[in-house]
Amino acid sequence: MQATIPAGLDRKEADLYRQLDPGRLPKHIAIIMDGNGRWARRRHMPRIAGHRAGVTAVRSTVETAARIHIPALTLYAFSEENWKKRPKSEVDFLMRLLSRYLKLEVPTLNKNNVRLEYIGRQQELPEPVQERMESARQATASNTGMVLTLALNYSARTELVDAFRSLVEAAARNGGIEHLQVDEEAVCRHLYTRHLPDPDLVVRTSGEMRLSNFLLWQLAYAEIYVTPTLWPDFRGHHLLEGIAEYQKRERRYGGLNNDDHSHHHLASKGTRG
Ligand code: FPP
Repeated sequence: MQATIPAGLDRKEADLYRQLDPGRLPKHIAIIMDGNGRWARRRHMPRIAGHRAGVTAVRSTVETAARIHIPALTLYAFSEENWKKRPKSEVDFLMRLLSRYLKLEVPTLNKNNVRLEYIGRQQELPEPVQERMESARQATASNTGMVLTLALNYSARTELVDAFRSLVEAAARNGGIEHLQVDEEAVCRHLYTRHLPDPDLVVRTSGEMRLSNFLLWQLAYAEIYVTPTLWPDFRGHHLLEGIAEYQKRERRYGGLNNDDHSHHHLASKGTRG
């Protein structure tokens, strides 16, 4: 059966899309964008040139994901550690780059029906950046297609700490701490990602095999796809390659697959997914 190719894909993307099962696309893809510095170094350019080139990769990836109707895409733009440990000049450059992206990109996001959201401690970012973030969020708030979430000043451990605090404060407001109910759903409702399903697929560029404090709770069952491609070289077709790899994997969520059921008494299987 010939699947309908979504409008706007280039030839390479269309060829890859044709090999996918459109009924089993991931509902949420998270990406750790890495390798901007290495990309620049290989060209004897300053690190910031890598970040600038990284914006082109963001555009291509967002547009392709929206065109193939991925419901949610989350990009790790910078971590709390990046923000606190990198030279001020680099952080300032990233802030300016982000501000410019947010200003210039709104029409394209609207054209692609993309709604913008953020995760991370926004309140610690410079005021003008926060204002720009808020106005871009509002300008795209009525879009009904893909949710693009930018992780800015994000740390998964900080998110969990904030969630636990928020749980306790909510209980205190609603009749006292003796009413505190802690279960998985309650934790999820207090995470920054309460607007999102858990990612099915996490992509990391530039070959690094780490999660780097990204969505630790939410990635519990995600498939991990690591590509050697450096972030500034990443394009829509690389995303489709990641999805193809995802579709080859078999997801078990800690259970057994169908084949195993017939002879599971023969093999002792662990409970890990
Ligand atoms: C990782 O490369 C990348 C970053 C810390 C910044 C990511 C920022 C962008 C792609 C551009 C701005 C973002 C948006 C959403 C417009 P690295 O510097 O850690 O690379 P290295 O590991 O090779 O040094």
